[in-house]
This record gives sequence, structure tokens and C-alpha cells, in this order.
Amino acid sequence: MKLYRPGWAPASAISDNIQMPPAVKNQPIVCVGGPLSGIETDLLVVPWFEDDAPAGGPGAPGGPGIDAASGGEVSRALASGEFQAKAYEWFLTPVVDRQWRARRIAVIGAGRRADCGSDLLRKLAVSAGITVRQRHINHAAFSVRGEGAAADLAQAAAEGLTLAEFSAGAYKTGEPAPEAAPDWTLAMLDRAGDAVTAAVARGRTLGECSNLARDLANEPGNTLTPREFARRASALAREAGVGVEILDETQIEKLGMGLLLGVARGSSEPPRLIVFRHDPPGAPKTPVLGLVGKGITFDTGGISIKPADGMERMKDDMAGGAAVACAMRAIALLGAPIRVIGVVPTTENMPGGRAIKPGDILKSAEGKTVEVINTDAEGRLILGDGLWYARRLGATHLVDVATLTGACVVALGRIASGLFGTPDSFVQCVRAVADRAGDRVWPMPLFEEYRDQLRSDIADMMNTGGRPAGSITAAMFLKEFSGGLPWVHMDIAGTAWAEEARPYLPKGPSGVAVRTLAQLAFERF
Ligand code: BES
Ligand code: MN
Ligand code: ZN
Repeated sequence: MKLYRPGWAPASAISDNIQMPPAVKNQPIVCVGGPLSGIETDLLVVPWFEDDAPAGGPGAPGGPGIDAASGGEVSRALASGEFQAKAYEWFLTPVVDRQWRARRIAVIGAGRRADCGSDLLRKLAVSAGITVRQRHINHAAFSVRGEGAAADLAQAAAEGLTLAEFSAGAYKTGEPAPEAAPDWTLAMLDRAGDAVTAAVARGRTLGECSNLARDLANEPGNTLTPREFARRASALAREAGVGVEILDETQIEKLGMGLLLGVARGSSEPPRLIVFRHDPPGAPKTPVLGLVGKGITFDTGGISIKPADGMERMKDDMAGGAAVACAMRAIALLGAPIRVIGVVPTTENMPGGRAIKPGDILKSAEGKTVEVINTDAEGRLILGDGLWYARRLGATHLVDVATLTGACVVALGRIASGLFGTPDSFVQCVRAVADRAGDRVWPMPLFEEYRDQLRSDIADMMNTGGRPAGSITAAMFLKEFSGGLPWVHMDIAGTAWAEEARPYLPKGPSGVAVRTLAQLAFERF
């Protein structure tokens, strides 16, 4: 089948007079051990459990002391109900005890101690971080408390404090520049050993890489075109030592990627294929983890055009690709011991005069033919060629991440990403990593019978399977391109963007999947 060159525009000024804001560099989080009274800071934030004893004692914050240090303000607030230690409640009080070196203490409600593991501690740290920034406090400390290993808790707290530094208002001109990030001390009640210090640095890196992915997802379609996405993603990965290659439309055509080219036809911006390689010296030949991310820089739906209402959100349809790029950066910075390949096909999905039409047939690089029923089901098309390419580069295990279906949002809401794949052991492995990383996922079935919904009269398959089980048939489509390798698909359509602010997640891009993908490279599978 001949591939057509639709006459993409040559490289040109991408966004006229809009300058993309530079990424902010943060200072490291200092980690200290010992009694809280010794920590010198403007504000000491201490998680307070419902089952903490106000007067202190074993198990209470900092041992005997927090309440006394505040001159009894904490127990008065608990007695009056002003502070009930429900998650994210905040109560701030001066320190009156001269022996203490903190100027003020804020207790942050943390619920029951048994329920406060690293997941909640991460969220509490985000909430504390946001509050401290809003109040322009420059030096603050966060006390690491909760159930679990000290290193896990410390890492989660460092992640949370870092995630709190994300700011979505990049293009506001009327307001002062976003507040500088406060410098944070993490206070460990026990000794802060090497393992804890390393965990804090790891958490910092993972949080920063999540924020970079959020910046990319937040970027509008006019500044983040496929070429600009490729440029930015490659810069942030290269900087960390990742090998990066950007394939242009000619190379993509040579590879026969008819699905990616088909989607790109409707746009005057040419597509790109971003390829990342983490190849640490001495790494075993296998496994080779292949990460594939959906990189639609704007999804209008194409000829099967979307309604205007809410379409602006479709600038984040490259959140999966951003997660892969930023996870590759984290993987290199953290020195993952295995080989990892990242593949991000990127294009716009536009309804131009040369756009693909419903009924058109496309041929994938793998050779399979696809009848395009709905041009808005474009993510699975570009991922089909992306998965094939990751295999060709030697991936032995595949994980793809995509804002793939509205149906997944219907199924799981905005609380969890859909998790699909085979075999079950690999799915469970990714699930366990995601749980630890604080990326909520939930497994969905891939029964063979679902494949029937994709049967085409004219080609090997259709690109849509009707309304029932829409997120599953999309995953079944991707499975056709997994070549029988262990493969997991994360549908992040509901989780990539927070529609409503929560104490631990402001409105806007969430950075979902970055930490899961990065930490997967440290697993045995
Ligand atoms: N990018 C969308 C999926 C999406 C929807 C992400 C809502 C975030 C929020 C995807 O390309 C899409 O349009 N999917 C279609 C598939 C359908 C035509 C089979 C959908 O979900 O409606
Ligand atoms: Mn679409
Ligand atoms: Zn899409």
C-alpha cells in the first residue's frame, strides 16, 4: 500500500510570540534525625493522628513535647474540636518552649495511625507543601511519621513536598511570578541513616520528573506541537544521560508506519517518533523494558470531530508520552540496572483536507490492516505502530500509557487508571509498583470474546468496537500489536488531569504514571 505525503509544512516559528516558561530547578531536601525540638525552622509541620495522645508519651509526635512546646494549644484545639486530626486538617500555633528551635508548629490531621502509610503521607506532604507555599514561608520542616519502613515513608514525603511545587499558571502575566519553592527539611524521629537519605533523594527526583511531565501536559497545543514536544522531551531526557533519537516523517514513512502517518495526515504539523534508550554498562541482555506513550499533542477527533464543549482539555492527550519521557529521565538519574527503551509516537489529530476518513484502510508497520471507523480512536492507531517499534528495538516486556478512552473514565471515574494486559503475573507486578508509587490503578479483563467487536468485513480489524466495554476493546486493539510479549496497558484518560482540586492534587495535570514507570525499571519481572 502506497503511503501518501500530505505536504506537511516545513519547520517554522512554532508559536509566534509565546515563550515557553523555563523549568524551575529546586534545591535538595535536607534530611535530619533526632528529636523535633532540635529542628531550627520557621514552621515545623507534624502529622497528628486521631489516636495520638495529646500530652505526648510513647508514640506521640516527637515523644513528649509537641503539646507542651505549644503551651497546650494542641490539646486545647483537640478538646474544643477546632482540630480533630481528620486527614488534611491544619492547625498552626507558635512555639512557646524556649528549648525548641522551631518558631511555630503546624499539626496536620493524619487520620488513624494504622491507616497512614506512605500513600497518605505523600498526600499530606503535598497538602502541607501547597499550604506553606501559599503562605510564603521560606524555611519549613516536615516530620516523617506513619506506618511502614522509614525509607519508604521518607521517600513518599519527599515526593509529596516536591509535587507541591508544581504550578499550572505558567502563562499568567498579571500576577507575580510563582512563589519560590521553600527549602524543606525532613525530620526523621529516628536516625536518618544512608538508606533514608538515599530514599529522600530518590523521592525528590521522582517528584521533579512528575512535575516535568505535568508541565508538558499543561502546555497548550499551539506551543507544544509534535516537533516541539520531541525537542523538549529529548532535551530533558538527554540531560540525564538517556540516548534519544527523533525520527521525522521521512524515516517514519520508511518504517512503514501507516497508522501513525494516517493520523498525522489531517494536520499541517508533521509527526515525530521519539525514541529513548537507557543502556547502562553491564546491564543484562534481558529483560528489556519497552515503555510506549501516546503523544497526541492535540486531539480534535479528526473528521469524526469532537464537540466544542471541553475540547480544550485535549491538549493533554500526550500525557502518556510525557510520562514515558519523564520516566526515562528518572530511570537514568536513578541509575536503573536494566535496559529500557522508550517510544513516543507524536502527532496532532486534525480534520484537515487530507485527513483520513471513516472507512479508510490503513496498513500498520507490522503489516496488519485497519479499517478506520472513527478517526477519534486515533490513540490506539499510533500506539499500534509504537508498540511494534519497541519490539523491533528489542523490548522483551511492554508497558504503554495513554489517555485512551472516555469509556475508561465512565468505568473507573477520575480515581483510578485502567490496567490491562497479559500475562497476569506481569499485570500484578505493574499493579504492585503502581500501588507503592501512589498511582491508583484497577485491573480490567481482556477476555478473547471482546476481540469479536473489532472484526472488520474488509480489513484485519476495525479501530473501534462500539459502545460496550469501550476501554477493553481499545486495549484488545493494542494487544494485537504486542507480538505475544508480556504487555501492560494503562488507560490514564481519567487520571491524567484533575478536574477538581483536592488537598493533595490541584486542578490540572497530575503527572500520573511517571513514578510507576520509573520504579518498574527497578523490579524483577
Ligand atoms: N483522547 C481521547 C480519550 C479521552 C477522552 C481522554 C476523554 C480524556 C478524556 C481518545 O482519543 C478518544 O477520543 N477516544 C474515543 C474513542 C471512541 C471514538 C471509540 C472516546 O473515548 O470517545
Ligand atoms: Mn480521540
Ligand atoms: Zn486521543
